[in-house]
Amino acid sequence: MNIEGSVALVSGANRGLGKAIVEALLEAGAAKVYAAARDEKNVATRDPRVVPLRLDTRKPEQVAAAARTAHDVTLLVNNAGALTSYNVLTSSQEDFEVDFGTNVQGTLAVIKGFLPVLERAAGGASIVNVLSLTSLASFPAMGGYSASKAAAYSITQSLRPELKKKGIEILAALPGPIDTDMVKALPIPKSSPVDTARGLVAGIARGDEEIFPDPMAVQMGALWEKSHKELERTFASL
Ligand SMILES: NC(=O)c1ccc[n+]([C@@H]2O[C@H](COP(=O)([O-])OP(=O)(O)OC[C@H]3O[C@@H](n4cnc5c(N)ncnc54)[C@H](OP(=O)(O)O)[C@@H]3O)[C@@H](O)[C@H]2O)c1
Repeated sequence: MNIEGSVALVSGANRGLGKAIVEALLEAGAAKVYAAARDEKNVATRDPRVVPLRLDTRKPEQVAAAARTAHDVTLLVNNAGALTSYNVLTSSQEDFEVDFGTNVQGTLAVIKGFLPVLERAAGGASIVNVLSLTSLASFPAMGGYSASKAAAYSITQSLRPELKKKGIEILAALPGPIDTDMVKALPIPKSSPVDTARGLVAGIARGDEEIFPDPMAVQMGALWEKSHKELERTFASL
């Protein structure tokens, strides 16, 4: 899609990757970006093109209100996400519920809430679900989170043919580890949020159905294309 002149909404835009995606979209010429956050007062910006917006993706009344306010959106970036469940045997039911409630049901609820808005967009619209390499193969140390991101990837695939008929494309962004609060305790190599966001926006501009926005994602994405089994074994060995 042409980012120039687009009107975007980014969820979880107050910190981490979401904040960097807002900046990358502005750099790429977006006309307006709704920076959605559970507490919109945490959105710090001086750019007049940024509109802070309250949105907890797990609260249906806030999703409905956001869709009424942001009625001109042409690019929806579902970035809000949670990493609460780790090892599948030891994570609690509540931890699973947070990850599935946010990464799967919250993402789907926002898509459904914004469908009428996106359908109205003259010239078509795009949805980008910020998923993870763990959507493609489980990273056992984060097995619960991986399962939620795999489910969100499956939902992305389910929606693609249906949305295409409505003039809406849906893309899956599949980053590797990023240097944000989410994985700050993990001593592994990470990409910067700024570089990852720029890679992600470049993928949106190209219309890649699978966006691999950072060097590790490119490497693991190539391995996944070659052999799903080898990617599974690689993640299991980390
Ligand atoms: N960091 C990584 O290594 C990595 C790798 C691959 C993919 N990702 C994905 O990238 C996305 C952004 O993650 P991040 O690394 O920037 O994580 P982060 O620093 O933990 O930020 C998470 C963001 O999501 C928001 N959020 C959580 N639950 C929400 C809800 N119910 N409604 C609205 N917003 C909610 C948070 O809001 P609050 O500030 O209110 O908590 C925060 O803005 C996520 O989807 C994540 O799964 C991250």
